[in-house]
Amino acid sequence: MANPLQLRAEVLANHPEGAVHRLVLHAPGVPQRVRPGHFATLAVGGANSALLLRRPFSIHRADPAAETVELVIAPRGAGSRELAAARVGDRLDLLAPLGTPFPLPDGPVSALLVGAGHRAAPLFALGAEIRRRGGQVGFVLGAARADGLYGVEQAQALTQDVLVLTEDGSRGLTGRAADPLGEAIDAIDAGVVYAAGPTAMLRQVTETAVERSVRVHTAVEAAMACGTGFCMSCVLPVIGADGRSRFVRACTDGPVFDGARVRWSDIGTVPPDLEGAAAMGVGA
Ligand SMILES: Cc1cc2nc3c(=O)[nH]c(=O)nc-3n(C[C@H](O)[C@H](O)[C@H](O)COP(=O)(O)OP(=O)(O)OC[C@H]3O[C@@H](n4cnc5c(N)ncnc54)[C@H](O)[C@@H]3O)c2cc1C
Ligand code: FES
Repeated sequence: MANPLQLRAEVLANHPEGAVHRLVLHAPGVPQRVRPGHFATLAVGGANSALLLRRPFSIHRADPAAETVELVIAPRGAGSRELAAARVGDRLDLLAPLGTPFPLPDGPVSALLVGAGHRAAPLFALGAEIRRRGGQVGFVLGAARADGLYGVEQAQALTQDVLVLTEDGSRGLTGRAADPLGEAIDAIDAGVVYAAGPTAMLRQVTETAVERSVRVHTAVEAAMACGTGFCMSCVLPVIGADGRSRFVRACTDGPVFDGARVRWSDIGTVPPDLEGAAAMGVGA
């Protein structure tokens, strides 16, 4: 874990952006600890709420000079709706940074960044960091409809190689983000792929990258309870460096994993050959 801080972060801005809200939070001490791929958790509901669990959100941007972190909130259930409605001056109970960030390339590489809807939120700071290190980036951004896309302009500010897809064809090509992956890898001669999105997309992205012998780092979005490694509610089956499969925690061992090591088709099951959480009774 990345030595997180817990503090009451003041809401400096709440920008509605299509179907989501971008919150800018004053979080002194946090931004300098953040690397692309880290996430934060926020308390919801107040002291007497039935909403016991903190809600996890990727850190979209972190600005040490301004002492801010930005989160992109898609209103879904009670917790995210409350956060999306936060007003300037409100104070939110923030714990960050959490998780294991995206591994950064050592030198200048060509990297393809693939994101689905608002789940693409952590990819833009990653793209900027890769550019800062002398690398090149390309983006593939997809969503069901045009209003579900996130960050197209941010991607275009980093590179001309931005491919946009919607499932209903309302913007860009018709299809899903993972569909044109092979061509997109070839087009920029990508040496590494980074992906953030739903499990089915991450699996498809991984399969295509592995077919082309390209490294692939995937940011998974597992349902989380504690977010800090204690409850084991977020485990998924991953093949270790020793070739043995174990349940590992998405919140502390991830959320970023080498896609080639994730047993995508076994997520949500308890395969008999696994070590780790299964042996501890989780999922039994
Ligand atoms: C590492 C990580 C990063 C995330 N980053 C973002 C982000 O940048 N922006 C964003 O809007 N959301 C993000 N999420 C999802 C977000 O945490 C959930 O949407 C939120 O916790 C739902 O809480 P709720 O109270 O609104 O809804 P609930 O009432 O708890 O659930 C409402 C709906 O959301 C679904 N849901 C609940 N938890 C999750 C989850 N962890 N992942 C996916 N679906 C869930 C439920 O199945 C249900 O359909 C992230 C999740 C994780 C684990
Ligand atoms: S959410 Fe509790 S261990 Fe990961």
